[in-house]
Amino acid sequence: MKLQNDLFLRAARGEQTERPPVWLMRQAGRILPQYRALRGSLSGFKELVETPHLAAEVTIQPVDEIGVDAAIIFSDILVIPEAMGLVYEMVEKKGPLFPQTIQSVKDVENLRSGAPAAEELNYVYEALKITKRELNGRVPLIGFSGAPWTILAYMVEGSGSKTFSKAKKFLYTQPEAAHLLLQKITDTTIAYLKNKVAAGADLIQIFDSWAGILTPEQYSTFAAPYIAQIAAAIDKVPVTVFAKNAWFAYAEIGRMDCNVIGVDWNTHPDFVRNAVGNEKVLQGNLDPCQLYAPAAEVEKATEEMLKKFGKGKHIANLGHGVYPDTPLDNVKVFVNTVKNG
Ligand code: CP3
Repeated sequence: MKLQNDLFLRAARGEQTERPPVWLMRQAGRILPQYRALRGSLSGFKELVETPHLAAEVTIQPVDEIGVDAAIIFSDILVIPEAMGLVYEMVEKKGPLFPQTIQSVKDVENLRSGAPAAEELNYVYEALKITKRELNGRVPLIGFSGAPWTILAYMVEGSGSKTFSKAKKFLYTQPEAAHLLLQKITDTTIAYLKNKVAAGADLIQIFDSWAGILTPEQYSTFAAPYIAQIAAAIDKVPVTVFAKNAWFAYAEIGRMDCNVIGVDWNTHPDFVRNAVGNEKVLQGNLDPCQLYAPAAEVEKATEEMLKKFGKGKHIANLGHGVYPDTPLDNVKVFVNTVKNG
């Protein structure tokens, strides 16, 4: 089906567009009252993720309500560990929890991986198909995964953490087990993302949320090579790599077979441009907390952000996911400022 609004995809491919497209990381979630109402009527987060027509409904809400130029499928990066054999729980007000974690090479050997693991995630592919049908060509649909290092971090740590010191310890003390696990995650992610593309994803974004806690050497050893494998394997649609706080890794990411590079709010777009050259498209990077300011300041800051990226090769977004208590009106100010800019 032909897209009515293909601005996001044209920009991602590096083509000239009349204005930068705009969407928000984590838009398909808690900022919308419609989401909270639906979520409150269910047993929990996982029911929403695992019920395809509900996941589709929540995916489309921000397109209707905020007018963003792309939808992102409602799911979570933690479906991959679960498909490999580690069940996750989403504890209300706390976040993810893995009752069982990875501690040894034996634990890694016991995990499923590759296409058989990816087959466990039919509910995600089904959600993509329903979403594509219901979007009816209005905007492109983004599919996503976590980067292998970020997925390993949750599988070893067992929950969120400020330091992920258990996960980093695993890299320092059991590097061979770590590489084995990273390769299994990579193989599963490639099969999963190819299935997502077959189900209708128009672009793939890889989230390396915990990139910034590694040393540059660790990043080059344990993170970048696996993302590079994934980016190279996804050949039918554009790929975005978002490695949060990994300012030291932009040159390496710039050499990957990806189209778009995410920029967090700590990093100046000029710095990234210098590191990656002129071909890549940049995505970002307003501080999500800026949206707590009065509307007039949100508008001004958004205009300043657009200026910093310059004309072309830019997809407007925040520097990380939108926070749940963000005033919805200010989200709309952000989006409309880009659209009217
Ligand atoms: O971006 C979108 O709108 C699509 C949906 C999406 C979710 N999670 C839904 C979600 C995406 C792209 C993710 C990615 C994700 N999940 C990441 C990478 C991006 C990032 O923010 O760094 C990570 C690290 C996770 C793991 C995860 N899932 C955590 C740490 C948490 C708890 C903290 C939190 O933000 O609530 C989740 C839960 C989660 N994933 C929610 C949503 C809407 C909140 C669940 C709820 O209470 O309804």
